[in-house]
This record gives sequence, C-alpha cells and structure tokens, in this order.
Amino acid sequence: MKRIQIINGPNLNLLGKREPTVYGNQTFDDYLLDLKKQFPEVQLDYFQSNIEGELINKLHEVGFSYDGIILNAGAYTHTSIAIADAIKGITIPVIEVHISNVFKRETYRHHSYLSEACKGCIVGFGMNSYRLGIEAILHID
Ligand code: DQA
Repeated sequence: MKRIQIINGPNLNLLGKREPTVYGNQTFDDYLLDLKKQFPEVQLDYFQSNIEGELINKLHEVGFSYDGIILNAGAYTHTSIAIADAIKGITIPVIEVHISNVFKRETYRHHSYLSEACKGCIVGFGMNSYRLGIEAILHID
C-alpha cells in the first residue's frame, strides 16, 4: 500500500471558518474523509501544525520512508528557508500545494522558498489541489 503524508501549515486548521471567499466553506477533516474514499488503496496520513519546527520534524519523520508528501506550508511558503532546507534534506517527492491561486493575490505571495526544492507545485484549484497532488505522486515514474 502506498503511503502519502499530507502536511498543512499555519492557519489551515481554520479551513471552513477562515476567509471563506478565498478558502471555501469546507473543513479539512470533512475534505479528508472524501479524499480517503477517493483513494481507498492509499494510506493517507494527515498532520497540521501552526509551528514551523513541528512541520520540519514531520518532514524528517516521514521523508525517508513514505511514497510522497503533499505540503501546504501556508504563509511559511513565502518566508521559510528552514522548511526549504528540510525538503532538500529528505529523499521522497514533495508536492507543494495551495488552495488559492497565490499569483492572483498580493505580490508577497508570489515568491515561494519551497518550490525549487519540490517535485512540483499545484496552485489555485481549491481543495482539489490536494487531490491533484496525490494523483501526481501516484503517477511519478
Ligand atoms: C495558502 C496561500 C498562502 O499564501 C497563505 O498564507 C495560506 C494558504 C493557500 O493554500 O492558498 O495560508 O497556502
């Protein structure tokens, strides 16, 4: 069975309540139930933290043994060299995802420290960005 770790960063615990015009009305727990139904053949593990070091610890923990990581690092995307270094330090593919199209938003969201360390990026498809990230990992040769 393939194992994929989903990691959500700061403020993504508020999905469903947070800025619904940008991020929608669904909680991540509800969406995760849907995802698990769509990928019954995949072990999908979920971790969320508002703390940068905890995100790094999770990357280290799974980053040598799972099949891939879907990472939405929230605003740390635009600030964290430490998370970029953690991605570079592990061996499995990391897909950077964003719910919103960051390129349609404020210019400070246009730069990601993480993208160059990731296998690829999926941006702007709402919660579907996570599903597309899983598809991408399942289709890496
Ligand atoms: C986000 C985009 C980031 O700029 C923002 O800080 C988030 C969410 C997204 O999923 O669209 O927290 O990563």
